[in-house]
Amino acid sequence: MKIMSVVGARPQFVKLGPIVRACADQPSVDHVIVHTGQHYDPLLSDVFFRDLGIPAPDAHLGVGSGTHGRQTGAMLAQMDEVLERFQPDWVLAYGDTNSTAAAALAAVKMHIKLAHLEAGLRSFNRRMPEEHNRIVTDHLADLLLAPTEVAVEHLAAEGLRDRTVLVGDVMTDVCLATRDAVAEQPVQVPAGVDPGLPFALATIHRADNTDDPERLAAILTALQDAPVPVVLLAHPRLRAMAERHGLNLGAGSLVASEPLAYPQMVRAVMAAAGVVTDSGGLQKEAFLLDTPVTTIRTETEWVETLTDGWNILDPELTQLRDVIVRPKPAGLRGEPYGDGHAAERAIQALLDH
Ligand code: UD1
Repeated sequence: MKIMSVVGARPQFVKLGPIVRACADQPSVDHVIVHTGQHYDPLLSDVFFRDLGIPAPDAHLGVGSGTHGRQTGAMLAQMDEVLERFQPDWVLAYGDTNSTAAAALAAVKMHIKLAHLEAGLRSFNRRMPEEHNRIVTDHLADLLLAPTEVAVEHLAAEGLRDRTVLVGDVMTDVCLATRDAVAEQPVQVPAGVDPGLPFALATIHRADNTDDPERLAAILTALQDAPVPVVLLAHPRLRAMAERHGLNLGAGSLVASEPLAYPQMVRAVMAAAGVVTDSGGLQKEAFLLDTPVTTIRTETEWVETLTDGWNILDPELTQLRDVIVRPKPAGLRGEPYGDGHAAERAIQALLDH
């Protein structure tokens, strides 16, 4: 059986890592990797392939950045040739980026079976490009690989239960394995920050937070006023927007840094006293790694992280100063994101169908 993974953005490379290994464990599976080129900076792409043991892509579409329509269209225009060349039995689409939607549409138009990994997540915020991509991909897919019970419920509510299999979350697979591998490694923080003292780790990259200069300035001011140093791992979009609007990523408590590679990121989250983010994956990684997280958004797809205040939503930045560093909540959290074997279940589900 031939499975084609289509990936393009940083969080998809993280999810691809455990899928590569699960495919390698199945002698009957031939795994082909297509990189759309949505993310092309080495720090957002190549280092993830290297650190997660992912082989070089079999095809690279090199689409680069653009408006949503142009970027998605450029991928779509090239996918037909790739699908004709490799003739996969299944296309596996990951998460909720523009690469996901392009892979989904290309596959179904050519009558190739489509599976969606991380199916059923909903923010119910129709301003988010990710929400459009999720809905489109879920409704096109032949097999919906859901990470959580809540995701299964969302799919059932949309009439998609028959095509859904609960497999767990592949990000748990890679996060927990990496945690165990890096526990003894030094923490990589910029000069001037003492990793032995409390510090917070921050990422901001959503268009809703970066593209309006007033909004971005308010977020940066709140981080600058934090009571502990804040290591800001700056996504290229954030750097570009800050530069365009003359905003400083380094004043007050803020210390800007390049994005971290995955193992160093996990190690830094483990060491941080708090995480501040608008990323989906990082909210969950903080939860899995026992670090309280504050999310600069009005809602989260990963509602399980809100349990006992492990994750606090603070879109208006009214609480940030008080909660950026806070005690870890007591009490058991269970395993809402699975047991670390989701990728094996996902590949088995493809074999079974
Ligand atoms: C994309 C995903 C988002 C995911 C994020 C992870 C969509 C709609 N969004 O957002 O869900 O959380 O990836 O990082 O697919 N840029 C570079 N170098 C790169 C890539 C991007 O400089 O390698 C800059 C460009 O200015 C680009 C901007 O970042 O225009 C945004 O990149 P894009 O791929 O459109 O979306 P992300 O914000 O990265």
